[in-house]
Amino acid sequence: MNFYILTLFPEMVMSGLGTSITGRAIEKGIIGVEAINIRDYTEEKHGHVDDAPYGGGAGMVMQPGPVCDSYRALCGRLGKQPRVLYMTPQGTVFNQSIAQELAGEEDLVFLCGHYEGIDERALQSIVTDYLSIGDYVLTGGELPAMVMIDCISRLIPGVLNNDASAEIESFHDNLLEYPQYTRPEVFEEMRVPQVLLSGHHKNIEEWRRKQSIKRTLERRPDLLREAALSKKEAEYLAFLQNGGEEE
Ligand code: ADE
Repeated sequence: MNFYILTLFPEMVMSGLGTSITGRAIEKGIIGVEAINIRDYTEEKHGHVDDAPYGGGAGMVMQPGPVCDSYRALCGRLGKQPRVLYMTPQGTVFNQSIAQELAGEEDLVFLCGHYEGIDERALQSIVTDYLSIGDYVLTGGELPAMVMIDCISRLIPGVLNNDASAEIESFHDNLLEYPQYTRPEVFEEMRVPQVLLSGHHKNIEEWRRKQSIKRTLERRPDLLREAALSKKEAEYLAFLQNGGEEE
C-alpha cells in the first residue's frame, strides 16, 4: 500500500514515519511513504504558497493552485486518481473501523493544511474525505496524517511481526485490551494473576475476555453498545452492571 502526503513539511512526516515499525515496513517494501512538497508546485518567484484571505481576517490561506497541481502531477505519474483525505478538525473523527476501510485501498493521498487552511476551491476540486483525529485544533495536518498512516499500516499483513496482534489488541470486537504482564512474577509485592501462570489456555482466554469486558465497562462504556459479545459474555456484562464483583 502506498501513502502520499501533500505537505509543506515533508521532512516532518518522513522522519516520523521512517522510525520504528513503520520505518521497518518502508524498508521491507510492505508500505510506501512519499512526502510531496506543495511548495515545489508554486510559480510564485519567492516560493510563496499562501496569501491573505479575501474578506479580511487573521492569518494566511494556502492558495489553490499549488495544492491542485501537486495532486494532479501525482495522478499523472500514477495513471490513477487516488482518494484524497484532507486533515481537518471539521472532518469525521477517525476511528478503527475507518482505518480498516482505508486499509483496503491501494493508494491514499493525505492533504495537510497549514495556516488558516486551504482555499475552498482546491478542496472542492480534489478532496474525497474530510477526516479529523479529535475535537482539538493542531497547527497543521502532518501529525493527524502520521497518526492515521501509523494506524492503517499496522493493519497491513507483514507490518507487525505477529499478524494476529493487530486483531487482538484494543478495539477488536469494540472491546479494550485485557491487562498484560511479564517477568518478574512478583513486582513490589504485586503478583501476576495466577491463571496466567497455569498454562491452561482455555481458562486464560476466558479470563482475558472477561477482563476486556470489565475494563471497557470501567473506562469506555460507550464502546459496549457496539461490542460483539457471546450470550455468556453478555450475561457477565449484565452481572457487572448490576454491581456484581468477580471472586
Ligand atoms: N488539523 C488541525 N487540527 C486537526 C485535527 N484535530 N484533526 C485533523 N486535522 C487537523
